[in-house]
Parts: sequence; structure tokens; C-alpha cells
Amino acid sequence: MLSSRAYYGNRRSRARLIRGILLIFFLWTFFDLIRVHRNLVRHHEEVPHTLATPNSKVFLTSIHWNNEKVLREYWNNAVVNLTEAIGVDNVYISIYESGSWDDSKGALRDLETRLDDLGARHTIVMNATTHKDENRQKPGSSGWIKDSSGKQRLRRIPYLSEQRNRALQPLYDLAEETGEQFDLVIHMNDVVFSTDDIFRLMQTNGGEYAAACALDFSKPPNFYDTFALRDSDGYETLMQTWPYFRSSASRNALKHNVPVPVSSCWNGIVVMDASPFYRTNNPLRFRGITDTLANFHVEGSECCLIHADNPLSVTKGVWLNPAVRVGYNGPAYKAVHRNGGDDWLSSFDIVVGLWINRIKRRATFTWMQNWRISRRVATWKSLSKGNEEKGAFCLINEMQVLADNGWAHI
Ligand SMILES: *[C@@H]1O[C@H](CO)[C@@H](O)[C@H](O)[C@H]1NC(C)=O
Ligand SMILES: *[C@@H]1O[C@H](CO)[C@@H](O)[C@H](O)[C@H]1NC(C)=O
Repeated sequence: MLSSRAYYGNRRSRARLIRGILLIFFLWTFFDLIRVHRNLVRHHEEVPHTLATPNSKVFLTSIHWNNEKVLREYWNNAVVNLTEAIGVDNVYISIYESGSWDDSKGALRDLETRLDDLGARHTIVMNATTHKDENRQKPGSSGWIKDSSGKQRLRRIPYLSEQRNRALQPLYDLAEETGEQFDLVIHMNDVVFSTDDIFRLMQTNGGEYAAACALDFSKPPNFYDTFALRDSDGYETLMQTWPYFRSSASRNALKHNVPVPVSSCWNGIVVMDASPFYRTNNPLRFRGITDTLANFHVEGSECCLIHADNPLSVTKGVWLNPAVRVGYNGPAYKAVHRNGGDDWLSSFDIVVGLWINRIKRRATFTWMQNWRISRRVATWKSLSKGNEEKGAFCLINEMQVLADNGWAHI
């Protein structure tokens, strides 16, 4: 039996131990917080109002479906403003819309008039074919998959890839017909953005990149595009709130508020070095994974696969620029620009984010998430010698098909 003095002595030293641990916890958290805040403020670059390379030729491109509201309220103005800021002679705008049932076509016709007035070159295709029409056509030789009832369904990703490639067509045509080539391709989603955002993105990492992406928000503080974002080790993000990443290289860069090395990103807006689109052998294009692999119930975003296919990704890198945050609506954009600069995270966001990230990193194992996909890819590979997928890190356990009113998982 413990004497009462020893008992109380033990209790006292245990209390001291707990106090010590708590103190370390608070100091650690406190210094982390100070450091992150300081980095957010210190590394906030002055907005480059001019371009480091003022004669860069820029190909702006986008695809649209039911985006009238954001087009009319923000996007059209932003594109016009950007075109003026870059200089009309150095810009080509290529837009592909199809099947909208709101007045996206009317909004794009307004934009077309404004671009004509500016004297900016553009191709704006408005296609009347709806999702319903697409679903009713006779299944083609690729891009279709059988659902559980045996019905052929049009896969969403090959469909989107086709649309993105149609939007790129003027780039290929100009090169072939006139020899004109662009330096940068900027892919824009239906997001709220400013000219400053794009200038910053263009100058990510001193202009050295295969691709540089924004961070996109629909319902902040959660970022939106989880389908295309992969950290420097190729893993999906751990969490949808800051600091998002599992790999230490990606996480540390984010904590320092400098460009984040990633394997893939898209996230609202992406600027790409245009040269791979002009290769004579295999010019870069959008694609989905092949149907025989998709049959194993896996899917990968065309916006991730393009980085997997891009030879420059390895040499110049794919970067996410945390200083460029775009929104799918006005309030989302505003929420991620509070306090003007990059100091948009509250102390609460930072502290809770860091600890959730630490806990999740230790509580989950990458093999747990990936074994199912890896096994499916391995089985598929064993079926034929030609079966190869460079973008295995893009794959997730999903199958997306077009629905008459949007898209669906099967
Ligand atoms: C373009 O954007 C800048 C800020 O990014 C703004 O000051 C300017 O008024 C805008 N110009 C037009 C024509 O909208
Ligand atoms: C419109 O879409 C249909 C179906 O995807 C396609 O066959 C057609 O070529 C498109 N038209 C243009 C001008 O892109």
C-alpha cells in the first residue's frame, strides 16, 4: 500500500507533467501561429501591375455550361479587363459553350460584341447540342460505359476533354495555318477573378513553370476542386481547409506562403507554358482514361491527366500559387480576400488547421486509400501488354456519366 506522502507526491509530479505538456503544446501552437501569420504578411508580394515579359502572347480559353449569372456579373468584365491589360495584339480568346438552358449564350454574345469593339481576336462557339441530345445519340466507339442495368452511358470526362480540345482548336489551327504561336495558355473556369490575379499567376515562381494554378473556392473556407489537386507526392489532399496537404514539401511551401510544388492542380484558373501544345509528336491535348480501365470503376479528371501527360511537368514543375484565390461567386471571392492581402486566414483557421492536419496525417495511411485503386489498375494492366496509365495518381473510386440535367455517379 502506498503511504499517503508518496501518493500525494506522485499526484503532484503527474500534475507537473501535465502542466509541462500543456505548456509545450501552447508554446508550439503559439509559435506556429506567429510564424504562419508573419509569412502570410511578409511574402505577400506587391501586385505586379505590369508583366515581367510584356510581349508574352497569351491564349485564353474556357468551356461553359449554365454560367450566365457569373458571366454577366463578373467574368465578362474580367476577361475584357484582362485583354486590355495584356494588350489586344497579344491575346486570343477561345470559348466553347454548349447545351446551356440559361442565357449563357446571350451573355457570351455580349462579350463577343465587347471583344469586337476592342479589336480583340476571338473564337466563341455556342453549340445547341444539350446533354439530353448527347445521351440520345448512338453510342460511339469510345467514351461510353455500361451501367449496372446494362445501359450504355456517356462518360463525363471524355465528353469534357472533347470540349476542352474544341476550345483549343484555334491554337492548333493558327500554328498550322499561319505559324503563329502563343507563349502561355490560360484555362479559365467560370470564376470571379481580377487582372491582378492573373498577372500574379503568370509570374509564379519567376515565370518558371509547366503550369501554375490558383486556389478555388465555392463555399469557403473549403477549397473546391479536390478532383484535380494532388500534392508533391501525388496524394489527394488530407482536408478541404488550410493547410490541405499531406506531403511535407507541399505543406511547408503553403505555410511559407510561397508557390506550392504539386503533382497536379487546376482549381479555377491555370496558366500553362504553351510549348507542349505545339509538339510535332503527340501535341498535348485533354483526354480521359481509357474505357477498359474505367470499367473497373475508376475515373481521373482530364485536368489532372493533362499534367501527367505534360513532359514539362517533370522539368519545370506544376505549382499552386496560394496568393491567387478565385471564387465561383462574389461572396466566396470576398471571403478569401478579407484584410486585402494574403492575411486572409483567422488565427482559429490556422491553429485548428495545423492540428487537424497533424492528427489526420498520423491517423490515416496512404496505402489504406490507395490499395483499392492500385489493385484495379494492376488487374487492368495484366489484361494486356499495352495497358499503361501515366496518370495513376489522378485516379479515384468513381464513375461519372452525363445526365440530361447535369451529371451523375454510377
Ligand atoms: C480593371 O481592373 C482593375 C483592377 O484590377 C481596376 O482598377 C480597373 O478599374 C478595371 N478596369 C475596367 C475597365 O474594368
Ligand atoms: C456541337 O456538338 C456536337 C455534339 O457534341 C458536335 O458533333 C458538333 O461538332 C459540335 N459543333 C461544333 C461547331 O463544335
